[in-house]
Amino acid sequence: MSPRLEVLIPATRIAARVAELGATISRDYGDGEIVIIGVLKGSFMFMADLLRHITCPVTLEFMAARSYDAGTTTSGQIEVTKDLGRPIEGKDVLLVEDIIDTGLTLNYLKLLLAQRQPRSLKTAAFLDKPSRRRIQISGEYIGFEIEDKFVVGYGLDFEQKYRNLKDLCVLVS
Ligand code: IMP
Ligand code: MG
Repeated sequence: MSPRLEVLIPATRIAARVAELGATISRDYGDGEIVIIGVLKGSFMFMADLLRHITCPVTLEFMAARSYDAGTTTSGQIEVTKDLGRPIEGKDVLLVEDIIDTGLTLNYLKLLLAQRQPRSLKTAAFLDKPSRRRIQISGEYIGFEIEDKFVVGYGLDFEQKYRNLKDLCVLVS
């Protein structure tokens, strides 16, 4: 039987919230240049939409990380599969994530990037699932806090599928 999708956050609500986040980030950084690092793949849609609402000068970088996960569980082992193309020393860095779930990925990436001595290092995450946290960590800019449900769409996948959905959906098996 194929899984059913239920809309959790419709595209219109996502768009409004992402615009708010972009405005807040623009206000916080002012004229300062931001190095925006998108964590592939899940953040690509959020990053693209968020950027359109950021008025500060920005440069873009991408990283890719994967946790050794099978389906919907995370083992806690993180591997960086694509690293930055340039140094971030002395820069104001904003890491853009799809979701903070256990927090293990973000924790790993933040420790890695902090070693490179950026001037500042903050996180924007489209989603936050605080009830799943295995390590104490939070993001400065959060789109939506959600319950412990596995979600897909707006960049997020289940076994690499559903990233193209405009709405954030819950996968009901
Ligand atoms: P972490 O557990 O905070 O390390 O999150 C690791 C990664 O798991 C995230 O960046 C997502 O790619 C993925 N992930 C966690 N929860 C969900 C979900 O509900 N749907 C889709 N992907 C998820
Ligand atoms: Mg994923």
